[in-house]
Amino acid sequence: MSDLKKLKDEFISKLRGKSNLSEINQIKSELFGKNGLISTQFKKIGTIAESEKKKFASDLNIIKDELQSLINSKINEAENTEINKKLEQERIDITLPERSFVRGKIHPVSQTIDEISSIFSEIGFSVEEGPDVENEYNNFTALNTPENHPARDMHDTFYLDEKKQNLLRTHTSPVQIRTMIKDKPPFKIIAPGRTYRSDSDQTHAPMFHQVEGLHIDKDINMGHLKGCLNYFIKEFFEVDKIKMRFRPSHFPFTEPSAEVDIGYEMKDGKIIVGEGDQWLEILGCGMVHPNVLKNVNVDTAKYQGYAFGIGIDRLAMLKYGINDLRAFFDCDYRWLSHFGFDPLDVPSNYRGLSR
Ligand code: DAH
Repeated sequence: MSDLKKLKDEFISKLRGKSNLSEINQIKSELFGKNGLISTQFKKIGTIAESEKKKFASDLNIIKDELQSLINSKINEAENTEINKKLEQERIDITLPERSFVRGKIHPVSQTIDEISSIFSEIGFSVEEGPDVENEYNNFTALNTPENHPARDMHDTFYLDEKKQNLLRTHTSPVQIRTMIKDKPPFKIIAPGRTYRSDSDQTHAPMFHQVEGLHIDKDINMGHLKGCLNYFIKEFFEVDKIKMRFRPSHFPFTEPSAEVDIGYEMKDGKIIVGEGDQWLEILGCGMVHPNVLKNVNVDTAKYQGYAFGIGIDRLAMLKYGINDLRAFFDCDYRWLSHFGFDPLDVPSNYRGLSR
């Protein structure tokens, strides 16, 4: 038997019964790899006597083709087996129950901030932001708040260092200072955001939300302030008439200062805003104190204006009938799915997204 025939028989029997892809590939490289047995035989052709060369080459080609096609069909077979095995094992079980899908909701406070921003933007206010961690100067000193003012007390304010230089802002009013330092008048801004005080009961949380308003221009007076707040409250509560009362008050950064109450009544356990003879305080406001304007280099001979600070959480509670402030910050998903807002405003009978 010729060497070639022996080689062929040896490998045919080696391949017999082999079904594992990597074993077959191993055999393939033994034969056809760079230094494989068939490749070596081809290199030998040059050394063979002229008389036998032709036959040897033709036998070698035949054997090569035979082994190659055998290996290819084995590889094919093995690949098919593997795919079939995968298909068998990874079959989708359509009897499994679907995975539940919970759609997020917009928190009532975020919704309220969006509503407030859009109402004020319709009358020319732009939105500013300031950091939660503020310095003592922006939060108190620049706002004309004296050293002995109770708001500066440790009992009220979360200080972040012993020297009381940095703190969690106790109101959004420092954004007035930041805005006026970085730009030139006129100013017409609102600044919604988080504020912090050392306080916690049914109507107070250590973290709460305010929106600051500031309008500084030539010839701005208290009539503008009243008109602006009247418009805002009517738009926010979606009523045509509102009962509003300005009570004299004191804030170091405004002169004169006022607190604003809105009229309401209870009907079937629900608060109806704009009617009745009960009063609810919702904001503080006033004409910006000249000292504040001087602190930020605004020329008080030319410019003046008003400012206000509204408690956002209280407005949200009123509008959406929520009676415990603390529920806002409990992070209870069941509460949020009841009081939250649909981000896409998709009708609730749309089954595609909800569970
Ligand atoms: N910053 C005040 C507070 O937190 C609220 C306030 C009152 C803001 C009068 C103002 C204002 O801008 O003019 O109690």
